Amino acid sequence: MIFETPVVYAVGNTYQIMFYLNVDAYASVTIGTQTFDDAVCGNMRSLPGMRRITVPMETLDTAKAYSLRIERIEARLKYRTRSLGVETYRFEFHPVPKDDARAYMIGDAHGDLDGAVSAAQAYGSFDFLIVNGDIGETADETQALSAYRLAVMLTGGTKPVIYARGNHENRGAAAELLPDFIPLRDGCTYYTFRLGSVWGIVLDCGEDKEDDHVEYGGSARFHDFRLRETAYLQTVIADAQKEFRAPGVAHRLCVVHADFPFVQEPLFDTERALYQVWCDLLGEMGVELMAMAHTHRYCYALPGDPALRLKTPCPALIGTCKNETTVGGTGLLFGKSGVEYRFTANEAWMSESFMQCKGEPS
Ligand SMILES: [Fe+2]
Repeated sequence: MIFETPVVYAVGNTYQIMFYLNVDAYASVTIGTQTFDDAVCGNMRSLPGMRRITVPMETLDTAKAYSLRIERIEARLKYRTRSLGVETYRFEFHPVPKDDARAYMIGDAHGDLDGAVSAAQAYGSFDFLIVNGDIGETADETQALSAYRLAVMLTGGTKPVIYARGNHENRGAAAELLPDFIPLRDGCTYYTFRLGSVWGIVLDCGEDKEDDHVEYGGSARFHDFRLRETAYLQTVIADAQKEFRAPGVAHRLCVVHADFPFVQEPLFDTERALYQVWCDLLGEMGVELMAMAHTHRYCYALPGDPALRLKTPCPALIGTCKNETTVGGTGLLFGKSGVEYRFTANEAWMSESFMQCKGEPS
């Protein structure tokens, strides 16, 4: 195959359509009568590798389909580049419905992509996918592509995907390449999104220990990264009317890999003051649920629960599971009266449903 199936990532009010090209080729996305080229400063890209074409969310939501146009290049020359012809591939697209949207959150697969797919299948159909980190590590390009490939397996380019980076996706020589393979907002891994009536914010804690821990070998600069992220959260609040207070927003969700509000072992008990600021800012946004991963367990804590080390503005959910035989995730239903969720796992197991009602104390 000259390319791998696209993933449609939701970032802000855009979709970033990303796909991996195995050949030298120009690429464009066509939606209705509009064409969006993969060009940089006026030059079409032609080298193999991951591509990202950003399109307006409203345009794709309306058209409900897009086409990938790939023009293979025999030789890119200074004059008269030689083409091998154009191929076009059409993909249906299903925008998230305004009412009763269903999401599936998976994370912590740690390389077991088939197990992660089985866990999602145990929940059944869903309208958008949340890939919540630690799908692989980043020792090389193949590992760094794990989250993308899992999203391909679960959506086939036909549904929106949210991605939050996990701490293990900072480990190894390809960590610095990962940003080329994942959705970004202005080069950053933290961003907001809007799907149907769900507004969300994706956070990134980076690594889970102090930057100078010997394990990182001098590679980590996450304290400064988190400071910039704090500043970004403040800009989101300043832009409330276009973000969490925009017309039609009925649900406000925070997605983050690390379970930072929860009590931590001493080695991981970092950044308390900064993370408390994050919780306070999420409270100003009216976030109703924090959906997390990282510690491979199913857990749900209301504000004030002794399992928490921080004062949270809303319930905190850890919804991914991983052990020697099990990969698990969480299905989320965004209903009129609140968010209903169920834990599922690759043994075709599904928990009873739990309800986070609107107006629950926070
Ligand atoms: Fe993790």
